[in-house]
Amino acid sequence: MKRFEDLSPSLRCIMTPGPVEVDPRVLRAMSYPVLGQFDPEFTDIMNETMGMLRELFATNNQWAFPVDGTSRSGIEAAMVSLIAPGDRVLIPIYGRFGHLLHEIAERCGAEVHTIETEWGTVFAQEEIIAEMRRVKPHVVAMVHGETSTGRLQPLEGIGQACREMDALLIVDAVATIGGVPVETDAWQLDAVIGGTQKCLSVPSGMAPITYNKRAEDKIMSRKRVERGLRTADAGDEDIAVVRSNYFDLGMLQDYWSPLRLNHHTEMTSMLYALREGLRLVLEEGLEARFARHRLHERALVAGIEAMGLQLYGDPDCKMPMVTCIVIPDGVDGESVRSMLLDSFGIEIASSFGPLKGKIWRIGTMGFSCRGNNVLRVLGALEAALLRHAHPLPAGLGVQAALDIYEQK
Ligand SMILES: Cc1ncc(COP(=O)(O)O)c(C=O)c1O
Repeated sequence: MKRFEDLSPSLRCIMTPGPVEVDPRVLRAMSYPVLGQFDPEFTDIMNETMGMLRELFATNNQWAFPVDGTSRSGIEAAMVSLIAPGDRVLIPIYGRFGHLLHEIAERCGAEVHTIETEWGTVFAQEEIIAEMRRVKPHVVAMVHGETSTGRLQPLEGIGQACREMDALLIVDAVATIGGVPVETDAWQLDAVIGGTQKCLSVPSGMAPITYNKRAEDKIMSRKRVERGLRTADAGDEDIAVVRSNYFDLGMLQDYWSPLRLNHHTEMTSMLYALREGLRLVLEEGLEARFARHRLHERALVAGIEAMGLQLYGDPDCKMPMVTCIVIPDGVDGESVRSMLLDSFGIEIASSFGPLKGKIWRIGTMGFSCRGNNVLRVLGALEAALLRHAHPLPAGLGVQAALDIYEQK
């Protein structure tokens, strides 16, 4: 008989823009007993989680629930449910994940219009609004925090313009939710998708989503009840039905409503994890959590600059939870990353497309966003760079970060 050894994954210090370290309380919650998906004890947990998500998304929307799958599943659910074939969709792109929205919108059969701005910057809101006047989109889809470049796009003016022009605004807040304000109602965002594995510090595998009545109306206009669940002839064969069964928000909504109309089998253990992650966020308080992300960003940036390294991108639109560093000339970026992992147990990220091999990205997200992690990554990066024959003023990085912590 073939034998397999026990798994013993290494304890890592994960300083990437996701996934990040998971709070032990969340890991504990994942080991609780499984409940049946229609057990009232479990449906109570579902309802309670919806209430917690409303607080997280700063919304009074009725609909706030997780889609089962990674963050991309929430994005795909929102897009496939809100974009009917032939709809005009405008996608402003300023990094890799804007291109992902483009890709998904094309697969929805949309007439896609894109505008692009240089990576490392974001759009002036007026640029997007001017393009909206030209394209007259049914839907605008865009990223709030672009982890590939570490930039944060202001949204409030765009939300207002979408209302005025009767377009729906879908926002990828996968990397920002729980780390900086995401004001769903105040900014008039119609559908917002968050991520679990970043500032919420829950493992990857669920995508919290919220959408308002305007979005719901469009979803309902395309809704068809699954054949095996119908009690009478539904007379809904002719509508522009949502082209995905799994990601049809109309059906997911029925499952999360008091109807509890069967769809998929809910991921019990992941829901426990999400609930515990949300409990941690709400116990800390959103404002305190945002302040914590800003503090550790300040310490990290001070350390990087004191080491004489150059930050990548426009500082005016930097995401507090992602810090991008230009890899110095003559340094093999992948070799430094490998040394950090192998010798120090610390993981940092590279980037994608035109930035591959040009920058490192350090995440300070959720449970990973702690002073000891920031000091560890600075000390290890300094040692690894010296080991790669890159001249550095030794010791200054950690000292600069300690200065920030002592001032606070
Ligand atoms: C901004 C952004 N959007 C979408 C995604 C896709 O998320 P997932 O890999 O969980 O599907 C990511 C993941 O890194 C991301 O950073």
